[in-house]
Amino acid sequence: MRAAELIEQKRNGGEHDPGELAELILAYARDEVPDYQMAAWCMAVYFRGLSAAETQSLTDAMIRSGETLDLGALLGRKVVDKHSTGGVGDKTSIAVGPIVAACGVPLGKMSGRGLGHTGGTLDKLESIPGFRVELTTEELVAQLKDVGMAIVGQTADLVPADKKLYALRDVTATVDIVSLIASSIMSKKLAAGAQAIVLDVKVGDGAFMKTLDDARALAEQMREIGTRAGREVTCLLTDMDQPLGRAVGNALEVDEARDTIRGDGPADFTELVLDASARLLAYSDLGIDVDEGRRRAQAAVDDGSALETYERWIRAQGGDPDPSVLEQAPVQMPVAAPREGVVSRVGALAVGNAALELGAGRRTKDEPIDHAVGVLCFAKRGDTVLAGDDLAEVHARDDESARRAVAAVLAAYEIGDNAPVDHGILLDVVD
Ligand code: URA
Repeated sequence: MRAAELIEQKRNGGEHDPGELAELILAYARDEVPDYQMAAWCMAVYFRGLSAAETQSLTDAMIRSGETLDLGALLGRKVVDKHSTGGVGDKTSIAVGPIVAACGVPLGKMSGRGLGHTGGTLDKLESIPGFRVELTTEELVAQLKDVGMAIVGQTADLVPADKKLYALRDVTATVDIVSLIASSIMSKKLAAGAQAIVLDVKVGDGAFMKTLDDARALAEQMREIGTRAGREVTCLLTDMDQPLGRAVGNALEVDEARDTIRGDGPADFTELVLDASARLLAYSDLGIDVDEGRRRAQAAVDDGSALETYERWIRAQGGDPDPSVLEQAPVQMPVAAPREGVVSRVGALAVGNAALELGAGRRTKDEPIDHAVGVLCFAKRGDTVLAGDDLAEVHARDDESARRAVAAVLAAYEIGDNAPVDHGILLDVVD
């Protein structure tokens, strides 16, 4: 295999031999192919795409680049998992995990850190003082048996090729390609041993997939990869044209996830959390359908068992579940409605970027983040507001950054005279 020949073949629109493609990926993971050649290959893929067969061999090679984990065998249970393609205010796993675990189904999830305007679950959890995201496999299994719930960082040995390739794609404008996203996500899910997977595919201006058609294409590719590997896959296509829930920013999102677990969350986020929980329960070894899953998920919220599981989980990973320990930003500044009307748009990307500017996210891999800062979007699409009402609230380190964020968040809002079409959070299901 010569990397230059494969780059040329893809640049000219050709199809790779599966063995040669696998060799390229494995050689890259072993540092035998330089970043500049891999970047050129990614760009060729960006313009020429990958066939279904190529996407499959890419995924297989990524899995083979490292170790795999058979959580099902270690737990002696059918293992279910969820994953989101990333969005603004997406704290879904933090709320879904304890609900599902409270219903008797273990959820051990490997999550990532945020980059750019999309936040990462690990960063959110680290806003809880003492919370440890690095557990050994033995600790992970023991915690899953004891509490039923764990969220940890991806170990260095699991799919190392994706770690390298994703970092490279991130700085070479080659992230938003359906086949590369599908293989990146599915390689991690398959390597971690999930037998059934619920994928939350975000659609809208705050997501990688801007249109429903692109999101459907991604969902179908991921489902195909999963099905070929003998796994069950459901993809929820969900709205990311406005931030999910109200909170955007690490500690603020943890607080909102906890509120939702105890039945006091925003409507759109609660709907997504209950829907995803119901589907995970229906995939589990409980032998129930989605309707019964929904009923049990709601019951776990109502009877406090989900909150109890949340608290045990946070303690098990070294954190303090009391929300009063979360750091509060020193400056809180309202964003006032400039006129009366109906909110027709809350741009997710703009709000995500405002939070990023405040320090809630990172532009480069090693940038530190400020866990306390962020934005609370009180008014969402379809809400009626009066002039001067609080549309949102900026949480900032100082007055100057707060003022800049207020202007940016205000620009993200559009207020009109008529109610926009209400399509809800769940746009489609691919299963
Ligand atoms: N999330 C991933 O894990 N990989 C991608 O390529 C995009 C989003």
